[in-house]
Amino acid sequence: MAAEIVLTDTEFERYRDLIYNESGINFTKTNRSILEGRLKERLRNTTGVTLASYFTSISQNKEELKSFLDSVTTNLTRFFRNQAHFEALERHVIPELMNIKKATGNTTIKIWSAGCSTGEEPYTIAMLLSEILPPPWKFEIVASDISLKCLMTGKEGFYTDTRIEGIPESYLKKYFDKVTGGYKIKTAIMSKIRFDYHNLKNDSGLRNLDIVFCRNVIIYFDEITQAGVVNRFWDSMAGKSFLFIGHSESLFGMDTKFEFVKTQWATLYRKWI
Ligand SMILES: C[S@@+](CC[C@H](N)C(=O)[O-])C[C@H]1O[C@@H](n2cnc3c(N)ncnc32)[C@H](O)[C@@H]1O
Repeated sequence: MAAEIVLTDTEFERYRDLIYNESGINFTKTNRSILEGRLKERLRNTTGVTLASYFTSISQNKEELKSFLDSVTTNLTRFFRNQAHFEALERHVIPELMNIKKATGNTTIKIWSAGCSTGEEPYTIAMLLSEILPPPWKFEIVASDISLKCLMTGKEGFYTDTRIEGIPESYLKKYFDKVTGGYKIKTAIMSKIRFDYHNLKNDSGLRNLDIVFCRNVIIYFDEITQAGVVNRFWDSMAGKSFLFIGHSESLFGMDTKFEFVKTQWATLYRKWI
């Protein structure tokens, strides 16, 4: 169906409700045109498919639904995005965790990059921790997203020349191999990260995490969904642990037990029980 797609109000509401129920992503009247654009893109080059028949198809076929949800996500990311967070990670969070954990003899720092997009965020964390953690300290990262396409890019670890902007020269030399058309992350870093499909609407099953990064993700959810996601983070985190959300996001006014932490570099949240 190459013709112009114009959603009627009823069609918009059906698609909007399905997307919201399945992913928490909240399309409103103001960003309705984004949904129209994504549907147009999705149905381009398909013949005989109408908005109604496509709706039936995604309602009945789980795989088609997954790839439709993938197509409505916004995946903008970059290496070292919001440098201040990584300063706070290095100078505040890691020293605090090392202090607390050393008494237990547990020298592994467990991290979750939730809504990791194409992998730049977990790879940034992995490079930074490789630089700063002295032996015997180790780290493990789970990186998850609802977008299968993004997860594939993350797993492959290949980034074109334009996408490696922001990576310090010394990191680029140490942690990437130059290949045709771009750079490929070295296996030593890649092996620290497990990329996994996960929808934040559900419990991840992860427990005892020391750090959760969920930046620029809850901004796409409404308040109820945000609270559900954040409280599931609480359940997956260790008694003393830290949560980073995007710098334009906030837990202000939300019914949550997270404490606000203001460091010299950035603000973040902690679970402190
Ligand atoms: C703008 S990107 C943020 C990437 C990275 N965290 C950063 O700050 O650079 C938002 C990501 O959240 C993912 N996302 C949206 N809804 C999700 C859900 N319900 N479960 C898991 N991931 C979701 C999208 O697929 C997208 O890759």
